[in-house]
Amino acid sequence: MKNDAVWLDATVTAAEDIAESVRRIEFAASTAMPVFDPGSHIAIRAAIPGGHAIRTYSCLPDAGPGRVAVGVKLHPNSRGGSRFMFGLTVGDRVRITTPQNRFDLSWRAPDYLLLAGGIGVTPLYGMAQALAARGADLRLEYGGQSLGTMPFLGPLRALLGDRLTVHAQDQGAMIDLDAAIAPLSPTGELYICGPLPMLEAAKRAWARAGRASSRLRYEVFGDTGRFTEVPFTVRVAGYDREVTVPSDRSLLDALDDAGIPMIHDCRRGECGLCVVDVLGHAGEIDHRDVFLSDAEKREGTKLCACVSRIAGGTAVIDTGYRPQR
Ligand code: FES
Repeated sequence: MKNDAVWLDATVTAAEDIAESVRRIEFAASTAMPVFDPGSHIAIRAAIPGGHAIRTYSCLPDAGPGRVAVGVKLHPNSRGGSRFMFGLTVGDRVRITTPQNRFDLSWRAPDYLLLAGGIGVTPLYGMAQALAARGADLRLEYGGQSLGTMPFLGPLRALLGDRLTVHAQDQGAMIDLDAAIAPLSPTGELYICGPLPMLEAAKRAWARAGRASSRLRYEVFGDTGRFTEVPFTVRVAGYDREVTVPSDRSLLDALDDAGIPMIHDCRRGECGLCVVDVLGHAGEIDHRDVFLSDAEKREGTKLCACVSRIAGGTAVIDTGYRPQR
């Protein structure tokens, strides 16, 4: 399966603070952006120390016609991505992709629960707008460190009224996941975007409630590796060749470029289709997926080629494929 995102030159048309350490940045691309569904994201080529890296951000629903806007949180330990984004000013030129959607609304449920953690509100803001516009039965539970760090509170309150519940941690408010899920009808759906611990807690609550996993959809923050992206080289078992993975390409992309077949789907470290065996590695494995278990990650014999990397150096991998002779 090919990634059908198209890379475009773009210019920053707006950059403004919308909450503590959160900025809204809007882009006009060299061709008008197509209309996109809630849950869509774009990729941006970010300059980071020592090279470039690809960062993905959810599209906001409030961009001008033909434009695209994203919400970015400045991470205190940023390895360069969010710092690059925070440094953008009006008129700066960047490379971005057309929107893609791997977190789309099903539109089939009788009611919806949206669960946002911090900057994870960005895709859910658009979903809430779209669902409300169609008169859908929805609730949004929105948690954050403090009210000041939580963007879009005003528009969401105006849109949803008492269908929005806000949980500010500094006020001791935590989302009661079991209580939030309980009122959903048996075929109701849960959409989550937030940090990994929130997702895992929500998945456990969903399972405790005996609900079908197919009715829980989620997106986690990507790009959460422990190391800055640097180039690395893999030797591929069964193929007499080495493939170098640049800092701004994934292992999956680099294998694809080299004509080495791989199956994949989500490209977000969720489905596990792109997992390769690691037969040896000279650099540390920077696991960035949510598919492998903690034990598998510690073992260090597998990695998700779409998101995970080697923190420099070399590795020997086995894709499970062999060249046709
Ligand atoms: S393509 Fe789904 S985990 Fe890599």
